[in-house]
Amino acid sequence: MTIGLGLPFSKRKLEKLLDLAHLSRAELSSQAGFGGLIGESAPMRRLCELIGRISQCTSPVLLIGETGTGKEVVARAIHSTGTRRGKTLVPIDCSALTTTLVESELFGHVQGAFTGADHSKLGLLQSANKGTIFLDEIGEFPLFLQPKLLRALQEKEIRPVGSTERIPIDGRVIAATNRDLEAGVRAGTFRQDLYFRLKVIQITLPALRQHKADIPLLVAHFLEKFSDPVQPVHVISDDALRRLMAYDWPGNVRELENTIECAVALSSDSVLTVDDLASVSYHASAPHPPDGNEIVPLQETERRAVLRAVRATKGDKVAAAHLLAIGKSTLYRKLKEYATGLKPMETWTQDRSIRHNGTEL
Ligand SMILES: Nc1ncnc2c1ncn2[C@@H]1O[C@H](COP(=O)(O)OP(=O)(O)OP(=O)(O)O)[C@@H](O)[C@H]1O
Ligand SMILES: [Mg+2]
Repeated sequence: MTIGLGLPFSKRKLEKLLDLAHLSRAELSSQAGFGGLIGESAPMRRLCELIGRISQCTSPVLLIGETGTGKEVVARAIHSTGTRRGKTLVPIDCSALTTTLVESELFGHVQGAFTGADHSKLGLLQSANKGTIFLDEIGEFPLFLQPKLLRALQEKEIRPVGSTERIPIDGRVIAATNRDLEAGVRAGTFRQDLYFRLKVIQITLPALRQHKADIPLLVAHFLEKFSDPVQPVHVISDDALRRLMAYDWPGNVRELENTIECAVALSSDSVLTVDDLASVSYHASAPHPPDGNEIVPLQETERRAVLRAVRATKGDKVAAAHLLAIGKSTLYRKLKEYATGLKPMETWTQDRSIRHNGTEL
């Protein structure tokens, strides 16, 4: 038997899915709505309830959670369900701030503040304009600028580089990290006063292994998201779902999402099977989804290109090989490597070792 979501699906399949996710039909349709946050388990219900409450106030929020638990999704949900929806959300990746320009990036500068400052420039903290400032990876925020950030948050005003004037800021601050900030405070890399200022409201996101009941619903959502509308993979076999439920997901929802994306691209059928999941473990070691600036090993770049081509050509391997300017047999070999050269799911362990046919790879 298979379960799934989308069209076409049988009544029995849908009932089974709802049963696994402890959902009613009415609740299902409201699910994907809450800022894109999927989940009906007790921890996710508590989280949604909290988001609903804190989206109405303006206190700073600190989101803590392992990689891939959905901190950015939650930040966006707080923004989009609160009084600030419709205003700008300014995401600031603190791990990508370059030391030389960081101060002017965040606080802005006036004309002539330094060599090359031909025009005055608005700082990111100023540009939220009654919206939300999302300080992502706050654990990476440069130590030397932490006092200035603290002052900005406390006094709700900033002083652009080269200016003597103070400018009010009115963005609500949400910060996120997968680091242990208290350890940072102990190690002297994160200021305690800033930590206390940021965690006025602190939310710890549950790891996926703590709300496995949501896996069927998440799988259904990702099947919808990644399936080709012409040749949809709308269902997953019972065996395959059982495997997904048995795994501990150290990369959390992102790892599950990447897994389904990869399996859908490799699947040649409308049912996702255990065999389609064979290449899952590769994603577990990739903490971030691909973006334009990410530098990844060549082999991984190649794997992503191959999977994208297969998906873009709706599984037509000849057309995919043509797009990639490689021979059909090379493409088949690569797909086989991805599907068989990695750790089969039954041998997954949390120590991330990879075995194939009993041999450690
Ligand atoms: N509850 C959820 N419902 C739907 N999608 C989710 C959920 N949680 C996470 N995701 C998806 O998982 C991926 C990772 O989420 P996100 O980027 O918010 O994680 P994160 O906690 O910020 O991770 P990191 O610490 O690595 O930055 C995204 O594609 C996001 O859409
Ligand atoms: Mg993130």
